[in-house]
Amino acid sequence: EAGALWGGRFANGPSPALQRLSKSTQFDWALADYDISGSKAHATALAAAGYLTADELTAMHDALEVLRADVVSGAFVAAESDEDVHSALERGLVERAGANLGGKLRAGRSRNDQIATLVRLYMIDHEAVIRGLLVDLIEVIVGQAAAHPGATMPGRTHLQHAQPVLLAHQLAAHAWPLVRDLDRLRDWSVRAARSPYGAGALAGSSLGLDPALVASELGLGAPCDNSIDATSARDVVAEFAFILAQVGIDLSRFSEEIILWATREVNFVRLHDSFSTGSSIMPQKKNPDIAELARGKSGRLIGNLTGLLATLKALPLAYNRDLQEDKEPVFDSVDQLEVLLPAFTGMIATLTFNTERMAELAPQGFSLATDVAEWLVKQGVIFRDAHEISGELVRFCEERGLELHEPTDEQLASVSPHLTADVRNVLTVDGSVNSRVGIGGTASVRVNEQLVELARLVTAF
Ligand code: ARG
Repeated sequence: EAGALWGGRFANGPSPALQRLSKSTQFDWALADYDISGSKAHATALAAAGYLTADELTAMHDALEVLRADVVSGAFVAAESDEDVHSALERGLVERAGANLGGKLRAGRSRNDQIATLVRLYMIDHEAVIRGLLVDLIEVIVGQAAAHPGATMPGRTHLQHAQPVLLAHQLAAHAWPLVRDLDRLRDWSVRAARSPYGAGALAGSSLGLDPALVASELGLGAPCDNSIDATSARDVVAEFAFILAQVGIDLSRFSEEIILWATREVNFVRLHDSFSTGSSIMPQKKNPDIAELARGKSGRLIGNLTGLLATLKALPLAYNRDLQEDKEPVFDSVDQLEVLLPAFTGMIATLTFNTERMAELAPQGFSLATDVAEWLVKQGVIFRDAHEISGELVRFCEERGLELHEPTDEQLASVSPHLTADVRNVLTVDGSVNSRVGIGGTASVRVNEQLVELARLVTAF
């Protein structure tokens, strides 16, 4: 009776060692609800093809709903001898519907087309959850940006002060990758919404079942076009795992800045008590653990993706048992993001920005040198020379411990006759920021447009 789905040709049941190896109920139980929905849809197709009477279909559906309720309540659980969720639920069905009726359900389907369908249903459901969490996060980022109009900060390249930017511009820069992740998810869901059901073990069904009926019962668009591909492809799983990994990476890049901003040296943000942690020994500590966990988990999400890709590489068609290894990584990526995103969003929503400190540092490190060069270009100086002159002004100031706006008129002229007193007009952070009015630039007018566009885009997801 062990290995109840395939006992016939075996003289002995599986060894305990094989059973331990083979068993997947400890993780594929997450598919139990989808398995039952798949079974109901399959029963409908069996009835439509004349293999179940109307009464039998009703009894089958009723028994499957009883089983579903028993799974939810915990009254029905996997037994030690159940190989996987499919075997366990067939046992449960036979217990509830009797062997005569329950034994009919498996006609024309295999665990191979079943599992390929169920993992899609699982991902499609969790895509909706993760999409909602991403929308929440983007809205919070946009809200923080909108709450700090005009606040400036040092924009960095190589982590060095580069050019002043609006805080709102920097924050919005973290929202756009997440919008693209939403876009990727939407794109992915079109490919995911195909039903492998009806492919059977690999070659298709001979029973005249209608796979389009099963697909529509399950809310999927259409059956897969090739039964071998239907049962062996997992690119739809790998692609989903990639998008989740990319979300992790996007969060980890934002995290890195928050960790830096929260240091005493930088001191740009204060984390809310509810979204930071203390130290068991150092009473003064307030740690950015959420950002660090985001950074750490992004490595885990990458690992899940690469592990899955390694499983798929060079795997011959059609079904191989290796494919059972697709589930734990993708389930784990889903679980991790579903706990991480709400905490991350809370951390961002409750950040306090030290805008005075940011504004004070914005012009430091000669971050307005590009503005000097571009001002010179507007005076007719060719850029090569303008870059040189501006660089000399930086060196002049650095040697004397001055900021760029501090040299006297005579000192400016001594660096270059092109540097007249008027250059001071561009040597303010606000002047610099608001001069960058090109599309996508950091000028307030452009950034406000961005925030409006972000808010508009997220409502479409
Ligand atoms: N539990 C398997 C999986 O997750 C599905 C069962 C197919 N097993 C088989 N021997 N054909 O992929």
